[in-house]
Amino acid sequence: MARTHKQSASSASSNRSFVDPPAQAADNAWVRDWRALEEEALGDPQGYWARRAEELEWSAPWHTVLDDTEAPFYRWFVGARTNIVSSAVDRHLGTARKNKLALIWVGEDTSQVRTFSYFALGREVERMANILKAMGVGKGDVVTIYLPRIPEVVFTMLACAKIGAIHSVVFAGYSSEALTARIDDSESTVVVTADGSWVNGRVFPLKDIIDEAVRFSPTVHNVIVVRNTGSEVTMDPIRDHWYHELCKMPVAKGRCETLQLDAEDPLFILYTSGSTGQPKAVLHSHGGYMVGTYVTLHDCFDIHDEDRWWCTSDPGWITGHSYLVYGPLLCGATAFMYEGNPTYPYPDRWWDLIERYGITSFYTAPTAIRTLMRFGEAWVRRHDLSSLRLLGSVGEPLNPEAWAWFHQVVGQERCPIIDTWWQTETGMFQITTVPSMPMKPGAAGRPVFGQEAAVVDEDGNEVPDGVEGNLVLRHPWPSMMRTLYRDPQRYVSTYWEKYPGLYHTGDSARRDADGWFWIIGRTDDIIKVSGHRLGTAEVESALVSHPSVVEAAAVGLPHEVKGHAVHVSVVLLPGTEPTRRLEAELREHVAATLSPIAKPDSFDFPESLPKTRSGKILRRVLRARALGQDEGDLTTLDAD
Ligand code: WT7
Repeated sequence: MARTHKQSASSASSNRSFVDPPAQAADNAWVRDWRALEEEALGDPQGYWARRAEELEWSAPWHTVLDDTEAPFYRWFVGARTNIVSSAVDRHLGTARKNKLALIWVGEDTSQVRTFSYFALGREVERMANILKAMGVGKGDVVTIYLPRIPEVVFTMLACAKIGAIHSVVFAGYSSEALTARIDDSESTVVVTADGSWVNGRVFPLKDIIDEAVRFSPTVHNVIVVRNTGSEVTMDPIRDHWYHELCKMPVAKGRCETLQLDAEDPLFILYTSGSTGQPKAVLHSHGGYMVGTYVTLHDCFDIHDEDRWWCTSDPGWITGHSYLVYGPLLCGATAFMYEGNPTYPYPDRWWDLIERYGITSFYTAPTAIRTLMRFGEAWVRRHDLSSLRLLGSVGEPLNPEAWAWFHQVVGQERCPIIDTWWQTETGMFQITTVPSMPMKPGAAGRPVFGQEAAVVDEDGNEVPDGVEGNLVLRHPWPSMMRTLYRDPQRYVSTYWEKYPGLYHTGDSARRDADGWFWIIGRTDDIIKVSGHRLGTAEVESALVSHPSVVEAAAVGLPHEVKGHAVHVSVVLLPGTEPTRRLEAELREHVAATLSPIAKPDSFDFPESLPKTRSGKILRRVLRARALGQDEGDLTTLDAD
């Protein structure tokens, strides 16, 4: 029975009562005595990671588990040779898992179903790898992937990894401008896309966006186009190639060896928002990333061979990279994936899929839970969800009300809820529970095995339990980002300069007396909208690129479903009227220049923006104004 769901997040500082995990979840779990394991791993983190790494494939051993001589440029499994594909695909082919389903995919039109055994997946990856190789892609080259949630996105990511190329997946919703910036910055020579994607029964024209994005690209020579929606697109006779036609060519056939790499060789870059307008390219490498994602998924979601794992994220985000694509395959699991939205055509889309495909472990985001909760229990009740044994959440705090609904209505109080706190930069979970651990609704949990977290004040001193402060991580971990691609200085200054020796997360949090961490939110200029990360500067530069806008400031306001909503204060050119029509136009402009996720929810149009003497925008004042609160002391000089 869930006993604690009535508490509100604001009482998070107190020592809260636990919800015990259901007995059956704990009894059968890989990790039963979590306290013992926690202690053991912290006693010797490197020994712990080395032992776990041995569960994966290495073609040459490491001589050093962790080299910190050039910290914060940490190196893991130094001297080892490997390739994540050897462990994610190849090793299963020599076992009975060869015939096990690696991937079950369902389209937005649910009559479209595609399934791939590990053997079939291996063949698909080889084919894509052969094609990329024939286009001249080799070790260290960057391939941009702009694909919907279809199996080809998995094939392409793995194909890049197999031949040592670096993938850069851009969420298939970003505008052509955002895409151009990412393609140019990474100097990709090949882009893989589709004719379109399905969004609520309509086609989203991916190929048109790519055409716009690569029109003046000095680097892109080849665009591979997967047929997905069957919609009409313009094909450049030299640059563009249909994937299904390439597959028929002799170069696509035959074996493709998995290239053995240095454990530290880059696997992918993923652009994410920071506090300037320029997105950061977070870089992850083969060896450490595979160890981190494998171990955390295996232990925290207790993956067993008979499981059917569903992570609802998109491969365009880190969650999709780590726990839709790589983690499940490293565990030899069966992963489920679908194209579409949770409320289309009806708000029982997910419950229907869980019932039909017998999903056992379901990992999603608070914003989706809150959205579906609003449609009421009846949509859930009409489906048999008895296959579920574990539920998980990521992206923003899971408030106790949504926790209770997820636990009672979806999980029937039978399933532990694993609330995983982590970041694009961390690559793997950092604060979470495992199924045998007691839970606290609204709290993420405890640092993963081998990790310690702390809450510190501005000077880096630990604050007492229950007091809010800056969340930091104490120990390096295998799947940590290695650097920001081509910007090592920004890597150091963003994450390691504020608190020497500690990783600065950018989040505020509290730890309670039991050692459970309560995440509160970002302390920097990042807004989380429906779990997606937006830099205020990105939204602002999208706005000022509109001819009527002189200056703009974006802030996040609390929102019941989305977590945060985007509120913007816009200074217009003299003589421009702030009409509803202009608001609609600005909204569309932001969608088109950045992403539909970034569309402002509300506006105000002041004559000027409040600033500090040094010219920094006082977002705190704008936020207070928008919420109708006291604006506070305007003489203060610090901008938040
Ligand atoms: C930021 C990272 C990592 C996958 C998705 C987001 C927030 C993430 C939680 C959680 C509270 C969370 C933090 C973090 N966040 N998970 N379980 N509880 N907040 O990745 O886009 O890199 O964003 O998301 O603020 O810093 P991301």
